[in-house]
Amino acid sequence: VVWFTGLSGSGKSTVARLLERRLWAMGCETFYLDGDNVRHGLNGDLGFSPAHRKENIRRVGEVARLAYEHGHLVLCTFISPFREDRRFARSLLPEGRFIEIYVKCDLEVAKRRDPKGLYAKALAGEIKEFTGVSSPYEEPEAPELVVESDLVSAEDAVEAIVAELAGRGIIGSWQGGGSGA
Ligand code: ADX
Repeated sequence: VVWFTGLSGSGKSTVARLLERRLWAMGCETFYLDGDNVRHGLNGDLGFSPAHRKENIRRVGEVARLAYEHGHLVLCTFISPFREDRRFARSLLPEGRFIEIYVKCDLEVAKRRDPKGLYAKALAGEIKEFTGVSSPYEEPEAPELVVESDLVSAEDAVEAIVAELAGRGIIGSWQGGGSGA
């Protein structure tokens, strides 16, 4: 399970979608869970209070486990702002099979990008409990990988993740040689 965490607008989905295409090209089966999609269906009953975010991550973690047990390489993109909730998702998987990727992006950069116009609304007080504005984001303390999305391209981020997965034997090392290394 490759778990992307980071602020809204940090680029989690951009990197994950590009990674997914790269994995498909290698013949990997993937299963992708994304906050914006899951919250329309499975977790449509949940909001953004800490308790609801916890439940969001609990359910998604359980679904990720089911897909993992079914043999899929699972990609998850959720802000997942609370360490304890990410720890729970990790606890559902065998050691070494939960790869936490912190998509690190300066808050000011995310606010400037504001791809969905949500920061503007949050700053105007129209959206309550918005991560980075009126709700906290707890940075990962020991993620398997940090991607500085305001400094590296999505393509380079994908290369780093592929190398990480290959190094851990999650994908074959022969599949990770895309950069010619
Ligand atoms: S999480 O905190 O529970 O992990 P999740 O990743 O599922 O969040 O959903 C985040 C997405 O919901 C954001 O990318 C954004 O589009 C939308 N959203 C709507 N309201 C909020 C809010 N108050 N805080 C953060 N994201 C919000």
